[in-house]
Amino acid sequence: MEPRDYESRIKQLEKTVRILKKKLERSEVDREQMETASELRESVLKGVIKDLEESQIALEKRGEELESALTNLKTLQVKLVESEKMSALGVMVAGIAHEINNPVNFIYGNLDHAYGYIQDLFGLIQLYQQYYPQPVTAIQEEIEEIELDYIQQDAHKLFESMNMGAERIHQIVQSLRTFSRLDEAEFKLVNIHEGIDSTLVILNNRFQSNPENPQGIKLIQEYGQLPLIECYPGQLNQVFLNILVNAIDALEEGIKHRQMQKIDCLSVPTIRICTELLHQDWVTIVIADNGGGMERQVLQKIFDPFFTTKDVGKGTGLGLSICYQIIVELHGGKLECNSQPKIGTEFVIKIPVVQPQKYIDYNNI
Ligand SMILES: Nc1ncnc2c1ncn2[C@@H]1O[C@H](COP(=O)(O)OP(=O)(O)O)[C@@H](O)[C@H]1O
Ligand SMILES: [Mg+2]
Repeated sequence: MEPRDYESRIKQLEKTVRILKKKLERSEVDREQMETASELRESVLKGVIKDLEESQIALEKRGEELESALTNLKTLQVKLVESEKMSALGVMVAGIAHEINNPVNFIYGNLDHAYGYIQDLFGLIQLYQQYYPQPVTAIQEEIEEIELDYIQQDAHKLFESMNMGAERIHQIVQSLRTFSRLDEAEFKLVNIHEGIDSTLVILNNRFQSNPENPQGIKLIQEYGQLPLIECYPGQLNQVFLNILVNAIDALEEGIKHRQMQKIDCLSVPTIRICTELLHQDWVTIVIADNGGGMERQVLQKIFDPFFTTKDVGKGTGLGLSICYQIIVELHGGKLECNSQPKIGTEFVIKIPVVQPQKYIDYNNI
């Protein structure tokens, strides 16, 4: 090769090197630009992720809020439905009591008069017999036919039992009125024992013996000396009713279980109601049964709305949650339950004798 050729070759190479250098510089700039761009993208992405995370937390919080709002709404609905049901029941009971009261009074009020008339008539017959000891044959035959002696003896018993029946209806009507106590939609000073007794009258038939429970349910009442208590009487009676119905259910279930297992009934199914004055300013009412009791898992949930271990149609799971609301929220009291499987259950209700002013909320009835 000629020196000239070398020179031109070198020049060409130098040019190529320059071009390559420029290309390299450009690509370096490109790389730097790309790097900055990707850094930018990364930080934007991080920001987006952070925002997303934050909004997820906010969403979760909102979800929790919604869930608790839903639970509150459900509880409120339960309370509304139940209080509506109870007030409807109260209206019905009071209505029936009122309607029965009048006709019963006709019977009750007139029985004495009717007995007096009969006595007068028997007296008159005796007088006839005294003055006309030998009546004509037709009268003598009639006396034998109607068995006059027997009628005289029996009439007295008859009136006695009619009197007892009427008296009993009269008492039941009175109890129904005490139980419903609709007129008393505010705190009243009441005798709690009257409330418990009226509730027991409503449940009377469930204490009686029946083919499944020939012994019936034994009732022990140990009432202490209590002052009049400031409370909503109708609502408190509902608490007694709910707790007593549960106790009866538990006893009946226990009997069924023992019969199925062919175990002899060792102890008589019993409900015990005790009342006591505590430190002058609180009363305690204990309602205990010797039914099947509860396992711990059940005991933990009994005050939850809708919790029931009973068959569909039998239990609603509302009774005790309502009791809790009435005792704790409405009366500022305490409601506790002690229970042992196979031994029994006791509910302890504690309420203040006098209501602190803050609990008297007339809208919360
Ligand atoms: N005296 C009791 N003995 C045994 N279990 C009871 C007793 N009282 C309540 N329970 C339990 O508590 C549950 C909830 O009672 P409650 O709220 O009154 O609803 P329900 O009676 O409709 O089931 C019952 O299903 C039962 O399992
Ligand atoms: Mg119940």
